[in-house]
Amino acid sequence: MADSPSPTIAVPPPTALPAGRPAALPENPFAEGIRNRRVVEPCVIVLFGATGDLTHRKLLPALYNLARDGLLPQHVAIVGLARREKTDESFRQDLIEGLKRSSRSFSEADPLWQRFKSAIFYHPASFEESLGYRVLGERLERLDKELGTEGNRLFYLATGPEYFSPIVRLLGEAGLARPQEGPNSGAGPAAPAGPPGSRKRPWVRVVVEKPFGRDLPSAIGLNRELLAVLEESQIYRIDHYLGKETVQNILAFRFSNGIFEPLWNHKYIDHVQITVAEDLGVGSRGPYYDSSGALRDMVQNHMLQLLALVAMEPPVSMEADAVRDEKVKVLRALRPMTPEEVLRSAIRGQYAAGSILGEPVRAYRDEDRVPKDSATPTYVALRLHIDNWRWAGVPFYLRHGKRLPRRATEIAIQFHTPPMRLFGEASAPAASPNVLILNIQPDEGISLCFGSKVPGPDVRIRQVKMDFRYGHSFGVASPDAYERLLLDAIAGDSTLFTRRDEVEYAWKFVNPLLETWAAEGSRGLHFYPAGTWGPESADRLFEGAGGHWRRM
Ligand code: BG6
Repeated sequence: MADSPSPTIAVPPPTALPAGRPAALPENPFAEGIRNRRVVEPCVIVLFGATGDLTHRKLLPALYNLARDGLLPQHVAIVGLARREKTDESFRQDLIEGLKRSSRSFSEADPLWQRFKSAIFYHPASFEESLGYRVLGERLERLDKELGTEGNRLFYLATGPEYFSPIVRLLGEAGLARPQEGPNSGAGPAAPAGPPGSRKRPWVRVVVEKPFGRDLPSAIGLNRELLAVLEESQIYRIDHYLGKETVQNILAFRFSNGIFEPLWNHKYIDHVQITVAEDLGVGSRGPYYDSSGALRDMVQNHMLQLLALVAMEPPVSMEADAVRDEKVKVLRALRPMTPEEVLRSAIRGQYAAGSILGEPVRAYRDEDRVPKDSATPTYVALRLHIDNWRWAGVPFYLRHGKRLPRRATEIAIQFHTPPMRLFGEASAPAASPNVLILNIQPDEGISLCFGSKVPGPDVRIRQVKMDFRYGHSFGVASPDAYERLLLDAIAGDSTLFTRRDEVEYAWKFVNPLLETWAAEGSRGLHFYPAGTWGPESADRLFEGAGGHWRRM
């Protein structure tokens, strides 16, 4: 690593640094764990879409938090790229607002911010003009020399989806999609450090935000265009749900414990319910949302990922492809829906005016820049099946909606009731099956519901809950999903990113729903008052099978 007076942003330096020497990484137990597992090499992070909401609200605060925890590489530069004219300094100033709002702790006076901001740069350029990419290339090379970032590049596409392909094509044409030195693709996990003095091979990785396509053909097309320039192992398709601690804990819970996995199949499980409820409406995202809708926005990506993690077989190892191979098998096994099946097993709704926490809220069709006759669903409920040995005959129910009474994401695994009723109607009035609930957010934890005798001379059974809460057990707040995902991308670990085949199988399942609903228009669209749990017709998905949506 070149000795240079670089703006190292690891914190906190115990004393003033001698000029020309990199800062020592701070002692931090969490950082230690991370460093034990992977190498974070010096790099330049280029944020396309630097003036956008995602950069300000999520990416920069996540990078700042990583710096605070001492998890970023010692030599790192962040280059924001967007069309607007700005200087490095004005860009840094513009970031302050978002950092104050979204980072764990931020103050302009903090020496960390002083060091961090000196590693942030702004590069005005159009996403679609090749000249800008050549100039960018020259600037990155200069940064390599000045800051010791060693030719490693992480390009983050935080832009509208229409730019994903052009950006990658132009990166390719400017020679930026391949590492600048050495014959390798530089794609995979960081190469182990060689003997002293040996040259490490640089890498180039590209993080692609959502939405990844808007249906199966466009996702296949986008994959084809990216892969014309990049290797699959260079592409990091982000699904921020996979970066959530509680989502990662699904695998830890299933595969680091002996007692649950034997029960995790059709013999013991009656059905699974996955709920992602949001109390917010579409806010200022009307035009995006109206062309997308609940199925594309949440189900194709986040919810099918949750489903895959719950339903997958144990992987042979925790390596990226071993985990993703198993998730793909689940997505492949989703029973395809015919148009008739779509009408029977999928319900779509749209919020009408209503109230949330006593506050009146307007109808979806009255949201800014949403057409008054929009048929876009803001609510989806589905019953689906996974046609494999483990899940034969077990329905999976998925529901998601905006403007529901509260924000709550959970996975509820409902077990079969006991084979016979020993306790009579009077003792246990309602059949109360065991339910294991993985609370993804906001009350992060795991609960198990079971029947218990009410104290007293009579035999009366009531459902009780055994609770594990992250906050109580670990006493630390979970890092934001983007922190984990950015760190993984820097470290070259793609386990929590979706692979080409994963994305395409998910679209393959969703496509018949999109097509059937497009053909139906607003026929079959159910309206629900904002602040309720969605259209009542969603209850009919349980007809014949028994059960009902969980009351939350
Ligand atoms: C995004 C969707 O991907 O996820 C939004 O575009 C949604 O519509 C958001 O609100 C939900 O994310 P989270 O992390 O708040 O559950």
